[in-house]
This record gives sequence, C-alpha cells and structure tokens, in this order.
Amino acid sequence: MNASADTEPGAPASPAALQPSALHAPVLLEAAVQGLITDPAGVYVDATFGRGGHSRRILQALAPEGRLIALDRDPQAGAVARAWEDPRFEFVHSEFSRLAELLAARGVTRIHGLLADLGVSSPQFDDPLRGFSLRMDGPLDMRMNPQSGLSAAQWIAQVDAAELRKVLRDYGDERFAASVAKAIVARREDGRPIVRTADLAAVVASAIPFKSRKDPLQHPATRTFQAIRIFLNQELEEVAMMLEASLQVLAPGGRLAVISFHSLEDRIVKRFIDGHAHPERAFGRLPLRDSQLPRPVLTPLARIAPDDAEMRTNPRARSAHLRVAERTGEPLVKGA
Ligand SMILES: C[S@@+](CC[C@H](N)C(=O)[O-])C[C@H]1O[C@@H](n2cnc3c(N)ncnc32)[C@H](O)[C@@H]1O
Repeated sequence: MNASADTEPGAPASPAALQPSALHAPVLLEAAVQGLITDPAGVYVDATFGRGGHSRRILQALAPEGRLIALDRDPQAGAVARAWEDPRFEFVHSEFSRLAELLAARGVTRIHGLLADLGVSSPQFDDPLRGFSLRMDGPLDMRMNPQSGLSAAQWIAQVDAAELRKVLRDYGDERFAASVAKAIVARREDGRPIVRTADLAAVVASAIPFKSRKDPLQHPATRTFQAIRIFLNQELEEVAMMLEASLQVLAPGGRLAVISFHSLEDRIVKRFIDGHAHPERAFGRLPLRDSQLPRPVLTPLARIAPDDAEMRTNPRARSAHLRVAERTGEPLVKGA
C-alpha cells in the first residue's frame, strides 16, 4: 500500500494511523480480492484487518448491499477500524478462531468469502514497544493482543529448558535449540532477567556458533523470535480452528482465501484444503463403497505467489503464498 491509498475515502481519519510507521503494504492484494469475491452483494469476512489494506479493497469491490465483517485481535488494529465510516463495514476485536460464534451472535449464518492474511503486520513489527523486532530494542512482549496472555518476558522468566528447546525446534526449526535454551536459562539463573528484545537477541547470538551462520544477512536470533512469537500467540492452533470454523459458515460457491508467510502455516492450509477436497484419501484403505465415502466440501482453485515486481517493492511479500478454495454444495459430515 502506498501513502495515497491510505488517504482514500473510507480510510482511517486518525492522524496516528497515517504516520509512515502505521502503514502496512497489503500482500497479493488484487489476487486475493479477485479470488475472494464472487457476489458483490454478499457477506464477507476479513479475518485479519491489520491496517485495513485488504478490507479497503474489498469494500471498493462490494455493492451497496454487500457486507464486510473484519476481525483482529490487536487493539491497535481496532482503533484504526473503528474510525471507518461505512455502513457495510463492521469490526470485531477478537481472535479469528471464534469466527463461527462471532457470526452467530450477529445473526450471520452464511458468508460468501473469508480472507485471512496471516502473521504479523508491519506496524506490529515496526513498533519497538510491541517487542516483535530483534533489530530495535524494546520491551520483550510479542503479544498480538497485549491485553491477553503472557508476554515473552514473562514466559521466558518461568519456562524450563526442555519446553523452551521444544518450542524453538517445533516453531523455529532452530538447529541450536538446545544451546539457545541452555543459554537463556543460564542467564536467567545468573540473576539477569531477559526483559528487552536486545537482551534476548544478544543471549541467542552468544549461543550460536559464528561459523554455522549460513546467511550473514539473517540475525542469528531470527528463528528464536519467530518460534516464541508463534508459540505465545498460538498462531498455528488459531489457523487450524479458523479453517474448521470457515467450513461451517461458507455458502456453497463461497471462497476461502488464505495468505501465509511461512511453511508451518502454509502446510496447515494446504493439508486442510487437500483433505477436504479429497476425503477419499483418508478412507482409501477401508472397504467402503463410493456411496459411503464423504463427499468433497472444498475445491482447490489456486496457489499464487507474488510476482517479481511485488517482491521488489514489498520485502514482506517474498515468502507469501495465497491459496484459494471454493466450498462445494456437499453437506458437511461430522467427524469427516
Ligand atoms: C499480516 S497482518 C494483516 C494485514 C492486513 N491484511 C492489511 O492489509 O492491513 C495480520 C493481522 O492479523 C492479526 N491476527 C493474527 N492472528 C490473529 C488471530 N488469531 N485472530 C485475530 N487476528 C489475528 C494480527 O494482529 C495482524 O494485525
């Protein structure tokens, strides 16, 4: 998103929201919105409002009777969204895993499309006070919703080395998970708590041998920061629950469009879509007749990566993938 797009009609009026640090360039904007919208008069969900780049484009594409419900767990996203004045738009401050109950509470039983642009927004990364960045010192927080759960500093103050090692391995694929976990616990036991991003970045760097660093441009603590963030925000569990909930509310012909930024997320989305597009694979070895097999409830439509131009202008786009699937008319079978 460029600055002029942020000042279009319907954009947030708050001066803070217009400062450069508050900007977020939406990834795969046109492809995602084109893949999402099949009926301009339909009901849509943007599960990850952020700074509203995708929501703004969706509203441009909707007819006057269309409706967009946007979610975000970050109160700062909510502050931006609440300044929008468009009768077709509503913001709900919530985790997207609660999709089905949030829609039910609004009397919405069917939606025509759901977009999720996963991960952390640029304003979250770029604000040192949020504690996501290892390049700018700040309090070690890393919560997308700082009003809920433990901060990274609080969690690190109490976690044992075995759990820490598992988190670093499972969510960061950190080869040196054991030495990093040991170094973190040793520093803590030495009476020097890790409360700033710079503290964590330094202790991780001290635990990873210099000669093993394959990419000199990547900070040695990158994987540790990613792992702790994914774990604390329960990012993968949230995605899995949101995908399941989407099936309950998508109308036949409705679209699911998900942008993911790393392989852990993308794998969940891919398996979910493939599993519901080919349910017979899960039952392949059972002696069932065709008529007894569950029917596909999703049809995969596309997997799209950003083009070179977008990757050049928006570094966040480099690892992005958009997957689009369509709900079939088959009924959902419980437990399938
Ligand atoms: C990549 S940004 C979305 C940017 C947005 N598409 C835009 O154009 O401005 C991801 C957003 O999703 C939110 N988010 C991540 N996980 C969430 C969850 N489980 N529930 C609700 N919001 C979530 C984050 O707080 C962040 O604001």
